[in-house]
Amino acid sequence: MKITVAGTGYVGLVTGVALAHIGHNVTCVDIDEEKIKKMRKGISPIYEQDLERLMKEDKDRLNYTTDYKEAYKNAEVIIIGVGTPERADGSANLDYVFGVCNQIADSLEKDCIVVVKSTVPIGTNDEVEKYLRENVKKGITVDVASNPEFLAQGTAVRDTLHASRIVVGVESERAKEVMSEMYKPLTKEPYNVPFLITNRRSAEMIKYASNDFLALKISYINEIANLCERLGANIEDVTKGMGYDSRIGNKFLNAGIGYGGSCFPKDTKALHWLSVSEGVELKTVKACIEVNKSQKIRLYEKLRDDLKTLKNKNIAVLGLTFKPGTDDLREAPSIDNVELLLDAGAHIRAYDPISIESFKKKISYKLENDGTEGSITYFDNIDDAITAADAALIMTEWPEIKNYNISKYKKLMKVPRVYDGRNCYKLEDTKDIIYKSIGR
Ligand code: UGA
Repeated sequence: MKITVAGTGYVGLVTGVALAHIGHNVTCVDIDEEKIKKMRKGISPIYEQDLERLMKEDKDRLNYTTDYKEAYKNAEVIIIGVGTPERADGSANLDYVFGVCNQIADSLEKDCIVVVKSTVPIGTNDEVEKYLRENVKKGITVDVASNPEFLAQGTAVRDTLHASRIVVGVESERAKEVMSEMYKPLTKEPYNVPFLITNRRSAEMIKYASNDFLALKISYINEIANLCERLGANIEDVTKGMGYDSRIGNKFLNAGIGYGGSCFPKDTKALHWLSVSEGVELKTVKACIEVNKSQKIRLYEKLRDDLKTLKNKNIAVLGLTFKPGTDDLREAPSIDNVELLLDAGAHIRAYDPISIESFKKKISYKLENDGTEGSITYFDNIDDAITAADAALIMTEWPEIKNYNISKYKKLMKVPRVYDGRNCYKLEDTKDIIYKSIGR
């Protein structure tokens, strides 16, 4: 099948590469020339396991271009995988989605199925179809299908090829047939991915409802963890005990310093915004957002309560990304904590295995413009970051951090004071240091 994918971020590029891998001819379109040049050389613009390997393996079925007209005009299927960032009020910004629609309308020369993979508010697919039908050349038929994605960063390729499910929302037989055909290789051996056809609005809702449910699960367990700390219970034993109940399950019950990334924060706010605008506010989702906001700065608060003043204290910050296995810093708790520490006049010693350069860009505005008294120095190894530090905050459970020899905190730090936001260490291994974690 001849498929064009608009957008080469996590969703677009991974989808394009996966579809090429199962035998389709895929053209990936992006406005960024530099990115396109890189991809033509087989280099992935994002850090994602297996992606470059497949880009090389399936290169004969993959094209990369900025020439959208050429890419869209004869495509059988066009997949929209561009970003839907959050607006200041929490609603989803659909400018990129409709920007692509505009180009599609301008370019199409034959009938086509347009697939919306970007996470969009319920009802957007209807608007996209209306817009396209009103704006394509006369005589061309466009049907729109909603096809939300469920990949997580760091495991995106596996999550796409061995997906938990493929959800397709359609309003026409033709769209149903084409989508079933496109995904046929994944719905049979060896992948056997469950395939669910719904109407478009249900498909759009499945995406938000799934992400918000997972976010809720995290906020719920974080609140229970905070209570465990007060009452002398251990959150790890508690979640273990809960997880045996298959109705609860044992996944996504890791207490920590809250969820970050490009999805949960944005999708909880977008669905909440939508519910309020419909006059049926989702109170659980609202609470989930509030809990996450305060959970993200739990480590800073614990440290401040213990040290009283943070001025001129040397604080190591270990891990900057929102989770391991990705270079993404969007909504990472490290940013909130570092900003608070800088405001308090602390000197930060930051370590991350891959994202120091992008973190520098994120935080430079604050350092240059906010009159902060604190400072920040970057290190490419944990030893140097913690040397002579007054405290260390663990923000991301990178393997390098989880497997770090605990005795070194005692050896290298001024005071071996570790605040672990990801419960990386077993409590019994931390007897020789001052150690605080979440819910234990
Ligand atoms: C998430 C979903 O997991 C995907 O299913 C979904 O497709 C994706 O959003 C999306 O909408 O595109 P992702 O944001 O990549 O994927 O990351 P997750 O692995 O879900 O982690 C999100 C955050 O939750 C991280 O900050 C992580 O540290 C935190 N988390 C996760 C916890 O604090 N506790 C847990 O038990 C699990």
